[in-house]
Amino acid sequence: MTTHRIALIPGDGIGNEVIPAARRVLETVGAQHGITLTYDSFDWSCERYVKEGAMMPSDGLDTLRAYDAILLGAVGYPGVADHVSLWGLLIPIRRGFQQYVNLRPIRVFEGVPSPLRSAKAGEVDFAIVRENVEGEYSEIGGRLNRGLPEEMAVQEAVFTRKGVDRVVDYAFDLARRRRGVLTSATKSNGIVHTMPFWDERVAERAARHPEVRWDQEHIDALAAKFVLAPERFDVVVASNLFGDILSDLAAALAGGIGIAPAANLNPEREFPSMFEPVHGSAPDIAGLGVANPLGAIWSAAMMLDHLGHGEAAGRITAAIAAVLATTSVRTPDLGGTATTDEFTDALTALL
Ligand code: NAI
Ligand code: MG
Repeated sequence: MTTHRIALIPGDGIGNEVIPAARRVLETVGAQHGITLTYDSFDWSCERYVKEGAMMPSDGLDTLRAYDAILLGAVGYPGVADHVSLWGLLIPIRRGFQQYVNLRPIRVFEGVPSPLRSAKAGEVDFAIVRENVEGEYSEIGGRLNRGLPEEMAVQEAVFTRKGVDRVVDYAFDLARRRRGVLTSATKSNGIVHTMPFWDERVAERAARHPEVRWDQEHIDALAAKFVLAPERFDVVVASNLFGDILSDLAAALAGGIGIAPAANLNPEREFPSMFEPVHGSAPDIAGLGVANPLGAIWSAAMMLDHLGHGEAAGRITAAIAAVLATTSVRTPDLGGTATTDEFTDALTALL
């Protein structure tokens, strides 16, 4: 019997609907595989910010440090600025715990129509590795002459050799374990300091991974190729901003944002890693009980895999594929009429 301590942060809106669904799936699979997960739930959210003035307590990171992993729903609440939730919770956790890899798998499942012309199930199956702690999302910069005609803003991007090398190494290693192909997102024609540096680091690290074929694409051309030929990708490595944009695009072309999972990984395991669906708190459907729990459930499967239970994780992703391929049970975002609970029932029945 293995026991893991999990910190649950459902957050706001549909986070409170999809995290319980993911927990049900984890409990079903855990019971079958002799994995015990214990949970503590934290109300850290924009709702807490409204009441108490902070997304989380000041010692929040110290509290989380004791857990083996964090499963997060989504944060965001009408009236609370988006930078508050990002810089008050998500970014402190990602940076404080050196979760420098943001890993996002993308698959077209049988039974989920892709808006793409020709994507068939099985044809599109790749992963985006996004640098998650530096790059374009930095606090360095400032504003001058506020309110005057001379007003200006400067925002610096930060790329370090250590920061680029470790995420690129992770991506090469992931590509080796998959189909052996890596694509690096760049824009060294327009961004003439940081992006040529990124390219140099990728080329140098590539020499250490001779079993992986690699190429690089400018981010604009890469976005077009995601739409026109998504089947050619295996692993795509990108800076923080480029990876953020590419992964929403990829989630959409695989049939919807409700399915897409993400892992914020600290590969050295010095700190807990965090798993969360790609979608936000969806205030337009929050409270209706119809949120698609697949993004949260697939994220929970990535968590099990990270905790060393690859087989149990594989059974969850197989059940996701099976419920979509062999039943017509779906939440409304995928054209069905099922509630979150009904859909989760159908999925757990296949386990
Ligand atoms: P969103 O992802 O919350 O919603 C976009 C659209 O997709 C909405 O129409 C929503 O109903 C739908 N949708 C999203 N997830 C779904 C699901 N699981 N099942 C069915 N439909 C789903 O993005 P939006 O509207 O831009 O942001 C809403 C709030 O969420 C904002 O406050 C934003 O800051 C926050 N947000 C938080 C994220 C996080 O916690 N990591 C990520 C993205 C947004
Ligand atoms: Mg995003």
